[in-house]
Amino acid sequence: GAAYVDGAFVPVGEARISILDTGFSRSDVTYDVVAVWNGAFFRLEDHLERFERSCRTLRLSPPYDRAEIARILVQLVRSSRLRSAYVETICTRGVPPPGSRDPRTFENSFFAYAIPYVWIVPDASTTGTMDAVIARTVQRIPVTSVDPTVKNFHWADLTRGLYEAYDRGATHPILLDADGNVTEGPGYNVFAVSDGTLLTPAAGVLEGITRRTVLELAEADGIPVSVGPFGEDRLRDAVEMFATSTAGGVMPIVTLDGAPIGDGAVGPTTRHLRERYWAAHA
Ligand code: PDD
Repeated sequence: GAAYVDGAFVPVGEARISILDTGFSRSDVTYDVVAVWNGAFFRLEDHLERFERSCRTLRLSPPYDRAEIARILVQLVRSSRLRSAYVETICTRGVPPPGSRDPRTFENSFFAYAIPYVWIVPDASTTGTMDAVIARTVQRIPVTSVDPTVKNFHWADLTRGLYEAYDRGATHPILLDADGNVTEGPGYNVFAVSDGTLLTPAAGVLEGITRRTVLELAEADGIPVSVGPFGEDRLRDAVEMFATSTAGGVMPIVTLDGAPIGDGAVGPTTRHLRERYWAAHA
């Protein structure tokens, strides 16, 4: 892989940032992840737009504008020599100027890296499936200081969810919020098919670009969609479930808390949307 640090392209293993950078020391940071598939970015504009919006919300000003970042990313992927890549952009508050605590005086930092494409489940484009649990020991709580719609490094709840999933013999947690509504998991949005309708939560989650893509495909194909709050009972009644992420696309969830979803096989709506998703990369 390759990284972009302090205006230079370097091998990812040689990339270094300051230990004083507040992105590292204070989680004062936002990021985005875009996929390159067979040599082409997938929905780069959407990702750059979301990155810009996240920066604006946090009053971060990366030292490059959108067009410059796009050019950096193209060059980065070229220098990585990867055909399919996981490309992350990061903007941090930066290193505090000596003696200053006024965030307006900080020079914000921009970093990026490209590594081989990351799969949340192996072979998600063809055969991979997920075994999910509803997390019991941890909730996705949108504390006022962390807006889940802004991509952030506050993964403590998501990581605790991962521990719970693995401790219970599964791999993928789904976190509820304090009201018992379904939210998301570590790096993915969640969908269910129930009563012929595609359900996905709207609030308190990252507005995934993969999620948006799936909603557009469903609309184009006349699949009824309901975007809004629902509880775990709707998941247990669902005949199909899947997760969406830049890292893996549309990923079927075939068990929930150890019980099969539907007949335990990848359902027709999930299969259809997975095929449509990867066809969009052609
Ligand atoms: N994660 N929810 C969370 C908390 C995420 O971190 C992500 C993406 C998603 C899916 O969003 P998208 O479809 O835009 O990738 C949902 C990236 C891939 C990551 O952190 O690796």
